[in-house]
Amino acid sequence: MKKYLEVDEWKIIEKGFDPSNVESSESIFSIGNGKMGQRANFEEHYSGHSLQGNYFAGIFYPDKTRVGWWKIGYPEYFGKMINSVNWIGIDIILGNEILDLAKCTVTEFYRELNMYDGLLARSFTAITKEGKTVKVFTRRFISMADFKTAVIEYSITPINFNDTIYVMSYLDGDVKNRDSNYKEKFWDEAEKCFDKEIAFLRVKTKKLDFHVGCGMKTEFYLNDKKIFKNAEIIKKDKYIGTRYFFNEIKQNETLKITKFLCNITSLDCYPDKMLEEITNNLPMISNKGFNTLFEEHCNSWHKKWEKCDIKIEGDIEAQQGIRFNIFQLNQTYTGEDERLNIGPKGFTGEKYGGGTYWDTEAFCFPFYLCTSNQNVARNLLLYRYKQLPKAIENGQKLGFTDGAALFPMVTVNGEECHNEWEITFEEIHRNGAIAYAIYNYIRHTDDEEYLAKYGLEVLIAISRFWKQRVNFSSVKNKYVILGVTGPNEYENNVNNNWYTNYIARWTLQYTIDVIDLVKSKYIDIYNSLIKKINFDESKEIKVWKNIIDNLYLPIIENTNIFLQQEGYLDKEMLTSKDIPQDQRPINQHWSWDRILRSCFIKQADVIQGIYFFIDQFTFDQVKENFYFYEPKTVHESSLSPSIYSVVASHIGDINKAYELY
Ligand code: BGC
Repeated sequence: MKKYLEVDEWKIIEKGFDPSNVESSESIFSIGNGKMGQRANFEEHYSGHSLQGNYFAGIFYPDKTRVGWWKIGYPEYFGKMINSVNWIGIDIILGNEILDLAKCTVTEFYRELNMYDGLLARSFTAITKEGKTVKVFTRRFISMADFKTAVIEYSITPINFNDTIYVMSYLDGDVKNRDSNYKEKFWDEAEKCFDKEIAFLRVKTKKLDFHVGCGMKTEFYLNDKKIFKNAEIIKKDKYIGTRYFFNEIKQNETLKITKFLCNITSLDCYPDKMLEEITNNLPMISNKGFNTLFEEHCNSWHKKWEKCDIKIEGDIEAQQGIRFNIFQLNQTYTGEDERLNIGPKGFTGEKYGGGTYWDTEAFCFPFYLCTSNQNVARNLLLYRYKQLPKAIENGQKLGFTDGAALFPMVTVNGEECHNEWEITFEEIHRNGAIAYAIYNYIRHTDDEEYLAKYGLEVLIAISRFWKQRVNFSSVKNKYVILGVTGPNEYENNVNNNWYTNYIARWTLQYTIDVIDLVKSKYIDIYNSLIKKINFDESKEIKVWKNIIDNLYLPIIENTNIFLQQEGYLDKEMLTSKDIPQDQRPINQHWSWDRILRSCFIKQADVIQGIYFFIDQFTFDQVKENFYFYEPKTVHESSLSPSIYSVVASHIGDINKAYELY
């Protein structure tokens, strides 16, 4: 990985302008407040390589599936959180030239993301082709105190010239996704207008009728004194701009542009009420001004940090790293809205489409559980509960019956979006992580009422799935689970993946335990539940118990080592040290076929199971499995080292734990 950022306890800092870093910095410096988020694109025009990204949580598009070979069971579409109105745009025109860092000589460049305050700032000095030197300083934040609000402050100082400056502050909905399957644009214009200094644009998705309404009010200060300007209104399809003309700015004087924004979506407001909502809100927002809004925003961030900061002494890079992770989790999901979830890459770009993966339950959930109000974790569980009917429908599409649920590999609204058979149909362990999150929630909170009202229904549906997904092998005289992909995606279509079998068995037992608990404490709720879902308690539990007692769990004979899957030992046993450095990561150097045949493990698999259920294994079991699997793991998912690190720490291998951390 290229290292070009400065190490600092609270800040991410980039010094110097290198166009080849622009796209990666746009991701790393992204900001958000759970409801909206964006990449750190420049406010002013930039013609170099850049990925524009402004996102609204829960606003997605069903992009028609594109695959080479269609398989029955594939979803019709991939639901992706789409690039939305670009509301940061402030173009600067110096005489005849548009300010564009790709075309300038940039003599100074500094960018900073202050994670404590949630503030993105940038400053630069640039010389245009015509030799005009300008200094620019920008600050922006997306308010953590009010989910609709964002503010940008953009100051520009001409250093060696007196010339007319035009400022074009705009909202642009004519945007696209780089990952659009058919190069289609996803937005139509719905409404736009300008009145009383407020420009408003509403766009709607071509399918599903999601609406996004953005309002902006732009103010100006010359050398810190407010000045009033009339706007020239520029309208294009899905675009509204306000152009201002300045001929009074002298060399070394500073023009400060403050752009106040109020953005809402149809998840929170009726489309035909958006204009009213925004025109009511924006004057209040701008009256508060940058400083007050910023103070409110900071207070919200600081309160979060009080609860969730992790202090590391003696290793600033580690300190910065853990804070970056905490910052990302907090700005991606705040937990107030149970319709939302956590895209693996947050608001940093298009990768993974902003969908919900098992990452939420297996990796993110504990963070919110330990650092937020209990409702945050509860809302994450409710998200899945509400999608249970769709998970049952998803199971039906694949041939399962009687209320068996297979939660999607990737989803936004409960429908499966993923379309690679070896993952969509086979990476079924995701069901286990959802059951595990329920268990995790209960053991932290004791919210047994949740179990009775919601959790048990999910658990029964998942257990019904496992019951139908196993089959009895007369050769082994055991139940087996065939044709799966474990967490290690460098193996597909394997039989008896230890992790999957273990979590399936555990879920069946946990469901039985929860049934006992709910029956003893909430018998009325239980009775209405079994009626609702047609649950034949004694019959179904009897079969589950039989599976629990007889499910095959592969092990390497005469050792404590659980076998990742059948046949794993037939592979050539190498360690990741045997792979030349210039062939790493292997997924970018080796054919898929070579990867599949190798012993190399993408991410924690057996060790993922050991991590979840660490109290169910002896110290020696944990240790031997760790030292068997870790050397074969290439950690080519960012979900891997953390899990191994925790387990290394558990067995007292502090050096290894630190290295992996
Ligand atoms: C990992 C999955 C994960 C997905 C999204 C993949 O590379 O292998 O386990 O769910 O990324 O983060």
